[in-house]
Amino acid sequence: AGLAGFASVVVQWQGTHGRHGLPWQGTTDPYRIWLSEIMLQQTQVATVIGYYERFLQRFPTIRSLAQASQDEVMPYWAGLGYYARARNLHRCAQVLCESWEGKFPRQAAEIMTLPGIGRSTAAAIAAFAYGERSPIMDGNVKRVFTRYFGIEGETSTRAVEQLLWQTAEQVVQAAPADLDMSAYTQGLMDLGSGVCTRSRPACEACPLAAGCQARAQGRQHELPTPKRR
Ligand code: ADE
Repeated sequence: AGLAGFASVVVQWQGTHGRHGLPWQGTTDPYRIWLSEIMLQQTQVATVIGYYERFLQRFPTIRSLAQASQDEVMPYWAGLGYYARARNLHRCAQVLCESWEGKFPRQAAEIMTLPGIGRSTAAAIAAFAYGERSPIMDGNVKRVFTRYFGIEGETSTRAVEQLLWQTAEQVVQAAPADLDMSAYTQGLMDLGSGVCTRSRPACEACPLAAGCQARAQGRQHELPTPKRR
């Protein structure tokens, strides 16, 4: 498989085995996708669903969120933890209204300049909302890539980080022109969280197993390289 078939394999697997029907999967509204991605950063899907629905009922648009006070927003986040996320969310809505006509910019490179939005979250928003070929690289996806491509070294180092992003870019560039970026992005997330897990990877259920370097060498448990301590 290598680079060429990687994305297609993930998309096909997502269709039959990935997660479907989550509330934020039925939309291309970047506001809704952004909200879900921020909530999902440190919180389980099952917990997020209720918060997501209540938040959107009270703040249905970027403008309604920007016009609220911080004190009006926080109760809708209470219980989710990591409250800096909610403060950044509110600030980001205000920046969008002040500088972006109340709309999300269309490219990941612009989205990642906004408060509280890193490179991978920006890429997820651009991929899900606009179909942009912007690859994600979160903790789960790093596990898939280090194992499949046999990438050695601590993933927190600049060199490995750079190699991971470069490889992720090459994968989407090598993919067919009709690649479904939503399905690819969701598929990578689902593979990383449900199949290519840290301590018990389910290689027998993995669509990428045949081309996986870690598996070929029986080194699934050595990659990603553990942090030195
Ligand atoms: N975690 C982060 N983003 C997610 C998504 N789109 N679906 C499920 N889990 C996620």
